[in-house]
Amino acid sequence: MRKLAAGNWKMNGTSDSLSEVVTLLAALPSPACDMLLCPPATLLARMAQLAQGTALQVGGQDCHAHAAGAHTGDISAAMLVDAGASHVIVGHSERRTDHHETDAQVLAKAAAAQVAGLVAVVCIGETEAQRDAGSTLDVIGAQIAGSVPEGSTAANLVLAYEPVWAIGTGRTPTIAEIAEVHAFVRARLTARIGAQAAGVRLLYGGSVKPSNAAEIFAVPHVDGALVGGASLKAVDFGAIVKALSLA
Ligand code: PGA
Repeated sequence: MRKLAAGNWKMNGTSDSLSEVVTLLAALPSPACDMLLCPPATLLARMAQLAQGTALQVGGQDCHAHAAGAHTGDISAAMLVDAGASHVIVGHSERRTDHHETDAQVLAKAAAAQVAGLVAVVCIGETEAQRDAGSTLDVIGAQIAGSVPEGSTAANLVLAYEPVWAIGTGRTPTIAEIAEVHAFVRARLTARIGAQAAGVRLLYGGSVKPSNAAEIFAVPHVDGALVGGASLKAVDFGAIVKALSLA
C-alpha cells in the first residue's frame, strides 16, 4: 500500500508559515508516498490553494459531528471539504484531554467526516500511567471498538497510534513496543471492520523526527507517520517524507 506522511500543525502557524509549504513542494514535487498537512482552520483554504495540482493533500484537525447548526466556534466536515480538505484528524489526544472528547464522540465525528467524503484520521493511544499499569493493549482495543465507525473502509479511514506520553516529549516507545501495538491494531481493526482493515494505513505518531523516522518506518504494520512538531518546518517534514519514501 502507498504510505502516508501526515503533518499536524496543531495551534501553530499564520500566513507567513505558508512559505514552508512552498519550500516543501519545491523540494518534493512527486514523493513516493502520500503527503498530508493539517494546518489550523484559518490557513486551510489558502494551503489547499497552494496544494492544488501538487502531491500535497490538506486536512482539518477536528470537525463537529453535525452537518450544520447552532454550534458556535465549531466546523463541520462539509465546511472542511468546501475549504479544500480531503482528510480530518479526529480524536487526537489533545482533543480527548483538552475537550474531554469520549470514544463515542470521536466515532460520531469520524462517521460525519466519512459521510461528507473525507478520510477520517482517527487517533488512539495510551497514557503513560496506562502503559506503566500494563494496560496498553486493553486501552487501544477499547479505543478501536469505541471510536472507529463499523463501516469504515481502506479508502475512508486512517488509524494513528500515538502514545500520549510520546507526543511532543522527544520520547518514543521502543521499536519492539511499536511493533507489538501495530500488529495488535491491525488484528483488532480486522475484527472491527473485516477484510478492509488490511488496506487501512496505520500511522505511528509521537516525537517522529528525521533522526528516528527510518527505524520506525521499518516496523511491520507502520504505514506512515502523524508528525506534530517536525511537520512545521519543510526541511524536517521533507526529510521524514524522504525516509518514508525509501521504507
Ligand atoms: P509530535 O506530535 O510529533 O510533536 O510529538 C505528534 C502528534 O501529536 O500528532
